[in-house]
Amino acid sequence: MIKLNDIIVKFGDFTALHNINVHVKEGEFFTFLGPSGCGKTTTLRTLTGFIEPVSGSVVVKDKDITHVPIEERNIGIVFQSYALFPTMTVYDNIAFGLKLKKLKKKEIDQKVREIAKKVDLSDEQLAKAVSQLSGGQQQRVAIARALVTGPAIICMDEPLSNLDAKLRVQLRNELKKMQKDFGITTIYVTHDQEEALTLSDRIAVFNKGVIEQTGTPNEVYNHSATEFVCNFIGDINRLSDAVVAELNRAGGHVDPAKHNYIRLERIHVNVEPKAGCAVLEGVVDSREYYGLYIKYYINVDGQTIKVIEKNDGVNIYEAGQKVKVVIDPRDVMAYPAGAGEEAQA
Ligand SMILES: Nc1ncnc2c1ncn2[C@@H]1O[C@H](COP(=O)(O)OP(=O)(O)O)[C@@H](O)[C@H]1O
Ligand SMILES: [Mg+2]
Repeated sequence: MIKLNDIIVKFGDFTALHNINVHVKEGEFFTFLGPSGCGKTTTLRTLTGFIEPVSGSVVVKDKDITHVPIEERNIGIVFQSYALFPTMTVYDNIAFGLKLKKLKKKEIDQKVREIAKKVDLSDEQLAKAVSQLSGGQQQRVAIARALVTGPAIICMDEPLSNLDAKLRVQLRNELKKMQKDFGITTIYVTHDQEEALTLSDRIAVFNKGVIEQTGTPNEVYNHSATEFVCNFIGDINRLSDAVVAELNRAGGHVDPAKHNYIRLERIHVNVEPKAGCAVLEGVVDSREYYGLYIKYYINVDGQTIKVIEKNDGVNIYEAGQKVKVVIDPRDVMAYPAGAGEEAQA
């Protein structure tokens, strides 16, 4: 439904986007993920029409809109900083776009109240000034305002990053539910990998103006295409040469010339090894107790290996305790040395 084809964007002689290709399906929740400065906002602004690419095309529903002005693109936008009018009422903020479209008063009223209900804003809140609302409520107003004109696409640029952690999770869930209810094609920008993994149908992982991988949350997490992606998405262990040698002694086929990684939850402590697994001697350095799970830092062959274990309430290991660390060599993700670089996540 949305196609960004070979997009190149420059600011002066700095190339912000090198060759961006994105295909988003109708109704999809699609996320641009990456560290600050990698080009997520620039890509979004190219789609919405604030930026004209040096080359490449923006196609929506088979129509080339690369040179179509913003207001004719029928795309709703929610910014990080809400961009609401603080002294106007919530009602007037939501009605703003409809007034621009010169709709009749009655029609505006009907649409505003309908959308307000859907995003859980009460009549009482509609009458308040935006500045009287909390951050979470203001974000709801911003979403209502973006949706009220009935756009085909909604774009959200880090919409939750100004909120505190708890509210962020709550609103994240609401956002997902709203997106499902409306069935609206959504482009979502974030630097937060957890947000991306929980919300998205698919994710494009950006690095320095390039997309390194596009895939489902499971694809980018468990089958990271590049070393950058595997480091940026979630926590991971880079395996030392000594550990790699042990994996191969146990019958693994891990190439020691590559950069080899394994996710924390793939490693297990003091379990009966399955066929083909390596059993390494380790000593617990320390642990972090999260309730739902426990994270251990275990010294194996001089390397600290991080391990996540489910908290079963019984098998909890203490610092200094000797443990068996069980690794399946088939869980190793390997990348050519020198090709990628590690993410500064
Ligand atoms: N208007 C601009 N003029 C010059 N450089 C810009 C402009 N907008 C963005 N950039 C640069 O382009 C790169 C990508 O920026 P941006 O898309 O905002 O990153 P992100 O949203 O991923 O944090 C950054 O290096 C940024 O400094
Ligand atoms: Mg940005």
